[in-house]
Amino acid sequence: MKAVAPATGSSFDRYISEVRAIWGSGNDPELAFKVKPLLENLLRSTNPDELWMAKLIEEGKQSNELYRDPALGFIQMGHNQQPGHRNAPHDHGPCWVLYGVYRGKMEITKYRRVDDRKVAGQARVEREEVHTLTPGVVYAYLPGDIHSTFAHEASVVFRFLSYDLTKVERYRYNLEKGSVSMVQPE
Ligand SMILES: [Fe+2]
Repeated sequence: MKAVAPATGSSFDRYISEVRAIWGSGNDPELAFKVKPLLENLLRSTNPDELWMAKLIEEGKQSNELYRDPALGFIQMGHNQQPGHRNAPHDHGPCWVLYGVYRGKMEITKYRRVDDRKVAGQARVEREEVHTLTPGVVYAYLPGDIHSTFAHEASVVFRFLSYDLTKVERYRYNLEKGSVSMVQPE
């Protein structure tokens, strides 16, 4: 994945500096809720003409790694999602995630696991909450939170990952089959 590589002095660059400044050890259980307003501010204050944002939108790539912190491990992704784009229920294992919308409208459904976890490969989950994300709106999903996404419109979506998801153990859920399977770490 090629980074869009926002320039020094851009709103994105300032945002990353703000996240780095509050990160500390990275173990603060409130950290997701401290980064959330920083991402909200980025989404609400960045002009679509600002070079890095204009490039992200114009290139229209589905998935862009905008930034990966070499020391702290967090990653900021930027996505262009087509109307109807969906991602089946999944969790992010031990990581937390922020989803935010810059343009468009998406819906995130949160699920609660209701089985006793005694049968390997089986899981029963129920819909718990539906969040509607419009421009400038950010929601946090904490370690283990099961969620699915759906783009109502063509959307520019920002996803902040507390750590590289390809390196952790996490799961995907099939509602119809009542099954759960591990997303293989790379
Ligand atoms: Fe997710």
